[in-house]
Amino acid sequence: MSLMESFEEVESCWRDLADVLAAGISRILLYGPSGTGKTYAALHHGVGNNPAERLVCTEDLTSGEITGTWMPVGENRWEWREGPAIRAWRGLGGRLVVDEVDRASGDALSTLLAMTDSPESARWRNPETCEWVRPGPQFSVVMTTNIDDLDDIAPSLRDRFPVSIRIDRPHVSALASLSEDLRASALAGSLGPAHRRVSLRSFYAFDELRRRLGPHRAAYLVFGEDTATSVLDALAIASIT
Ligand SMILES: Nc1ncnc2c1ncn2[C@@H]1O[C@H](COP(=O)(O)OP(=O)(O)OP(=O)(O)O)[C@@H](O)[C@H]1O
Ligand SMILES: [Mg+2]
Repeated sequence: MSLMESFEEVESCWRDLADVLAAGISRILLYGPSGTGKTYAALHHGVGNNPAERLVCTEDLTSGEITGTWMPVGENRWEWREGPAIRAWRGLGGRLVVDEVDRASGDALSTLLAMTDSPESARWRNPETCEWVRPGPQFSVVMTTNIDDLDDIAPSLRDRFPVSIRIDRPHVSALASLSEDLRASALAGSLGPAHRRVSLRSFYAFDELRRRLGPHRAAYLVFGEDTATSVLDALAIASIT
């Protein structure tokens, strides 16, 4: 495949995401290899004026970190601090990003189910004010995961997300933020087979580091011995063509 064809293909999964967002789908799951820009897209694409709220799931995530907790505010006084999911519910065009969603379990998973439920069913009561809160009309959730087998995600959670898009390559704007001579290699690296894939993050680090340390040392530090040689060769070829 020529470089131009690759660049055209760059758009495919990203075009799917843009089309689905433009169609007003408000529950989307992005999955696929690491470092392709899933979280970045979830935080920025189709988001209104308010910054998106982000949750990163771990085995230790508590439901308090999702909906909120009591916080001490002076002697014998406690206040309820609403968590990211409720802030996103309330936000104008609010977006909740739930990263590493395959790791959610227990109480946190139950709370996520409640927070991502259909707009007609979802509601939550503030324990301090007893106010009932519902998701705003523009509320959207984008979940991300690295796993390729979506069966590893709790079926009840997956069921709330009718559209899943496999993000397998960086967005053109992500490539454009690299120095020009690195873009083709970064694209090729992200399209390689799993065991040889090189993430965008490595290319960002290499781009930065080579300014101080020169390309050879930077390549060995970032890519490791085996991959460094092929990256440096590709850059040398690109510079003479
Ligand atoms: N469109 C973009 N413009 C500029 N930088 C970007 C863009 N997309 C991604 N990046 C940068 O690329 C890096 C990887 O992106 P991100 O963290 O979104 O990947 P990911 O797919 O969520 O990876 P993981 O699966 O490991 O969580 C980050 O440093 C991010 O800021
Ligand atoms: Mg991510």
